[in-house]
Amino acid sequence: MDDLKLIELIQNTLSICESKFVKNQIKVEVDVSHELKARGKRIELSQVLLNVFNNAFDALVEKKDNRSLYIKAQNQNELVTLSIANNGPKIELEIAKQIMNPFFTTKEAGKGMGLGLSISSTLMQNQKGRIYCKPSANNTEFVLELLHA
Ligand SMILES: Nc1ncnc2c1ncn2[C@@H]1O[C@H](COP(=O)(O)OP(=O)(O)OP(=O)(O)O)[C@@H](O)[C@H]1O
Ligand SMILES: [Mg+2]
Repeated sequence: MDDLKLIELIQNTLSICESKFVKNQIKVEVDVSHELKARGKRIELSQVLLNVFNNAFDALVEKKDNRSLYIKAQNQNELVTLSIANNGPKIELEIAKQIMNPFFTTKEAGKGMGLGLSISSTLMQNQKGRIYCKPSANNTEFVLELLHA
């Protein structure tokens, strides 16, 4: 595992998918201090972020206007938590219970395989971290916990 600057990881990953956010009038707000560092494998974490960003995108395009993606991070004791939230349609409780399961998808055939979050869970475990959905949040929020560098 490497010591990674979170802001670099986020910006590098956003650069891969940013154009579709711009084209679909989705505002991307990044509030991450340049000092924050985490332990992890760059490519694996980028895959996790990409999946969570893409899921947020799919949710947000279901909404008519005022589409936003919020990315924040903070130190919490020995952990760094990265929060990725969107103001799209909320996840129903019955659905939320299943979203981490392999091949669970609510997307139409051919669109989603239902693998993104289950692969992301495994990848996060490889970094000694975890990913979870915060059901209490106002927005749909996914939290990534990592060890800080
Ligand atoms: N930000 C989100 N807002 C609303 N629903 C979400 C969000 N993220 C995930 N989900 C729900 O969780 C399900 C599982 O997500 P997951 O990424 O594992 O699979 P997928 O996106 O359907 O397919 P794949 O990632 O393989 O293309 C989604 O089908 C969707 O119902
Ligand atoms: Mg997905």
